[in-house]
Amino acid sequence: MSSGQYFADDPSVGSDPRPVEIALPDVAFTLTADRGVFSADHLDAGTKFLLLEAPPLTSADAMVLDLGCGWGPIACVAAARAPQAAVWAVDVNERARHLTELNAAAIGAAEQIRVATPESVPADVRFDRILSNPPIRIGKHALHDLMQCWLPRLTPNGCAHLVVQKHLGSDSLASWLRNNGYDVDRIKSRAGFRILEVRPEG
Ligand SMILES: C[S@@+](CC[C@H](N)C(=O)[O-])C[C@H]1O[C@@H](n2cnc3c(N)ncnc32)[C@H](O)[C@@H]1O
Repeated sequence: MSSGQYFADDPSVGSDPRPVEIALPDVAFTLTADRGVFSADHLDAGTKFLLLEAPPLTSADAMVLDLGCGWGPIACVAAARAPQAAVWAVDVNERARHLTELNAAAIGAAEQIRVATPESVPADVRFDRILSNPPIRIGKHALHDLMQCWLPRLTPNGCAHLVVQKHLGSDSLASWLRNNGYDVDRIKSRAGFRILEVRPEG
């Protein structure tokens, strides 16, 4: 893996922070992105689709995980929409974590958003909701390992909403998840993006 890829830890490309407008019907703020992280100068179309179309967070969503947070758009919007929730934002990319911390502070959610490396999330933490634009480009095996690592941390009534492009394998990921003990519904589909709703079976 080249160290310049967005999913590499500690990206070596030079830093060049830039503002990104988040303009959703219910949430608007300006966050900061940077080179060396995913979608370095705009809100990714798949992420926007997830933020617009995933079922709303409710008061039952006390613990929320943004898996692969990048510069933190999902974590920040989740925190704004669910002030009661503790939002964990996890990424292997150090610059991404730094940006998410910066963005959490910028929207007044520094206490609410817990930015962490994957290893530093305590093993007993469970999530009512996982929201993710997962890192498909890490490859199928690594993606499956990632799912095997985090989906078992859903609470019994919890669920994950994953946005995946059809041409990047949303259907094969859905099949793999079903074969590995999860209920999976494709709840939204538009412009090549799918939102998968994933629940522990039964
Ligand atoms: C498609 S990007 C989404 C970023 C951000 N959530 C967004 O929507 O703009 C996927 C993210 O997953 C991160 N990632 C890759 N491998 C990971 C792993 N094993 N654990 C956690 N995050 C990972 C990448 O660094 C990247 O920031």
